[in-house]
Amino acid sequence: MNDAKTVLELRNVDKSFGPIDVLHKINLSVKAGEVLCLLGDNGAGKSTLIKTMAGVHAPTSGEILMDGKPVSFSGPKAAQEAGIACVHQFGGTFPLMSISRSFFAGVEPTKGWGPFKVFDRKKANEIAVHEVRNFGITRIDDGDRLVGGLSGGERQSLAIARAVYFGARVLILDEPTAALGVKQSAHVLRIVNEAKRRGLAVIFITHQVMHALAVGDHFAVLIRGAIAADFKQGEKTREEIADLMAGGESMADLEAKVGVQA
Ligand SMILES: Nc1ncnc2c1ncn2[C@@H]1O[C@H](COP(=O)(O)OP(=O)(O)OP(=O)(O)O)[C@@H](O)[C@H]1O
Ligand SMILES: [Mg+2]
Repeated sequence: MNDAKTVLELRNVDKSFGPIDVLHKINLSVKAGEVLCLLGDNGAGKSTLIKTMAGVHAPTSGEILMDGKPVSFSGPKAAQEAGIACVHQFGGTFPLMSISRSFFAGVEPTKGWGPFKVFDRKKANEIAVHEVRNFGITRIDDGDRLVGGLSGGERQSLAIARAVYFGARVLILDEPTAALGVKQSAHVLRIVNEAKRRGLAVIFITHQVMHALAVGDHFAVLIRGAIAADFKQGEKTREEIADLMAGGESMADLEAKVGVQA
């Protein structure tokens, strides 16, 4: 998808909190139908960077462009309306809500008129179950079930299906697989591929190199708030990426120091 359009671009973005400079001259872009993996160790600035893209923080300097035009979001809601969806580690869904309520939170289909308007549960259930199943969660057949009964991977998938249904163009996933086991992670990775296939620009944050390599087209490594490397799938090995994330120190040397058996 090399001729695909750049959807979101950051140019020379800096972010400081008072005297603390967290992000330094960030240049990044993501295209439609592409997965950009943002890698970096704890504290590297990954969450700050995506919050800056998602309207939570305003950049201290630099520019954010959408479809080539500079944008400035007044808050997360404005970014959402522009098509930027953020899904956090636990999917951001509420355990005590039904699947369809959670799917439609705030934008439920209604039937009736004026004061007689009521939540159209049947229609909401049909749509939510259909959309979630389309994302491969075929175990779900009842929209009235509580989100709390879903696995972590299914909750992530529900949040992603919801973002896609409501027209997101940029999907930002902050460590979606961090709390998941092998099978559930594989499921979330499949769904990331499905979002990509549907033409979304996906930004996938992780510090699990294997997960990044499984879905990424393009990778950026963040070290102490700056982009230390920016490369494409196939240009670096797993070991090289792990070494980069460890701040240039060889993982093999680190493991030898702490006595980890290879
Ligand atoms: N509101 C804030 N005020 C001051 N410093 C902040 C603020 N938010 C983040 N920071 C600092 O910015 C740095 C980067 O934090 P950030 O949460 O972006 O890292 P991260 O890469 O997401 O880490 P992790 O992998 O642990 O989630 C940290 O040193 C953090 O203390
Ligand atoms: Mg973080």
